[in-house]
Amino acid sequence: MNPVKVGLLGLGTVGCGTVSVLTRNSGEINRRAGRGIEIVLAAVRERRRSRRCDAGGIPLTAEPFEVVDDPRVEIVLELIGGIEPARELVLKAIANGKHVVTANKALIALHGNEIFARAQERGVMVAFEAAVAGGIPIIKAIREGLTGNTIQWLAGIINGTGNFILTEMRDEGRSFGEVLAEAQALGYAEADPRFDVDGIDAAHKLTILASIAFGIPLQFDKVYTEGITQITPEDVAYAGDLGYRIKHLGIARRASQGIELRVHPTLIPHRRLIANVDGVMNAVLIMGDAVGPTLYYGPGAGAEPTASAVVADLVDVVRALTADPENRVPHLAFQPDALSDTPVLPIEAVETAYYLRLRAEDRPGVLADITRILGDLNISIEAILQKEPAEGEIDVPIILLTHKVVEQNMIQAIARIERLPAVRTKVARIRLETLK
Ligand code: NDP
Ligand code: HSE
Repeated sequence: MNPVKVGLLGLGTVGCGTVSVLTRNSGEINRRAGRGIEIVLAAVRERRRSRRCDAGGIPLTAEPFEVVDDPRVEIVLELIGGIEPARELVLKAIANGKHVVTANKALIALHGNEIFARAQERGVMVAFEAAVAGGIPIIKAIREGLTGNTIQWLAGIINGTGNFILTEMRDEGRSFGEVLAEAQALGYAEADPRFDVDGIDAAHKLTILASIAFGIPLQFDKVYTEGITQITPEDVAYAGDLGYRIKHLGIARRASQGIELRVHPTLIPHRRLIANVDGVMNAVLIMGDAVGPTLYYGPGAGAEPTASAVVADLVDVVRALTADPENRVPHLAFQPDALSDTPVLPIEAVETAYYLRLRAEDRPGVLADITRILGDLNISIEAILQKEPAEGEIDVPIILLTHKVVEQNMIQAIARIERLPAVRTKVARIRLETLK
């Protein structure tokens, strides 16, 4: 049988990783796919740029629409990133009857509903395993492996750059900026690294995970998002004293009134496996009603780990080329006409436990005032830690852990505590999840 003809958009970190893996493992891959795979044309911005892979045999163009319009091409690999021209290229490829494999989580999270609808109409596949958690086959695990379960919640470390920064800061005492620069040099970071550190990239991925877990449309604009830039070394140390680690988590939970979608720094008991996922590694913990908890772990970014997911999609598409479109795995796991309109909850309605840190005057009655405010709002305290005042200072750090409370009550409590004359700083607040 003739090899399948593939058009490549982008020869950067992931594009080059994909070419290397396809070349090195071609024998194994062809035996699995049942056909050879040949890249017939690749688009880049700058044709003369030196590449991190041996792409010498692949004709290059600086005109990406040549790839999606090439009549030889059956499958387009979109690995340029960003929204435009990626969106237009993917829609054109679909309109031309080509299947698409993409690693572009921003594109899927923001425009996936439209892209999948067009693909459905045209009878082509759009595969996006590499868009979430790098090399971990998490889309396949949820969409196929857990398909018998009602998924109750999932929580994931789903940004490699952010986890790499937090780990290096905690273990090696390195500065935020220095570690971020290393993540960029290693090819982990997004073109705009604020997407990594502000939690936007994790929110893109959580949007996708939630849709395939709960059968809801992609709703990126409803994800509550906080980044990692506010985490201080003292919070990391106090959390450690209390038996917790701070991780940047994406959490999707089916609650009684709707679905929680949130990305924020989170205290997790240090004995949980996911609390010990360090460096560029990612992990996703999923609670299914039948299977119970399952944990998926692996590299969350980087050239070949991501290529592993891209090539897996490519082989899946090659294997399914002759399958009737009606019999393929649906893009969002649930049949397109069976998506649910369960509402996504605003963050104020979310229920979670908290870590609070503040500085207050070290005199009788101050702690009582703080605990009274919490009690008045039905917030019960799990632990209190009061540190010695530093030499020559009259303020002391006070750290509190609370039981679960509705966010709206915590917002009110913090506002009241900050109005106490003895409290001289803003209250630092980090959500806490036991992940039981
Ligand atoms: P890079 O910036 O390393 O590579 C982008 C490639 O696309 C480059 O080869 C660039 O050309 C080319 N390109 C960009 N714009 C155009 C255009 N308009 N026309 C033609 N070519 C273009 O990005 P990555 O490989 O890191 O990321 C690619 C995608 O994969 C993104 O969506 C990213 O979010 C996703 N991803 C990345 C991971 C990673 O670890 N890096 C992991 C998982 C997903 P040139 O080289 O000439 O500049
Ligand atoms: N910038 C992303 C990360 C790439 O660091 O996780 C993988 O999606």
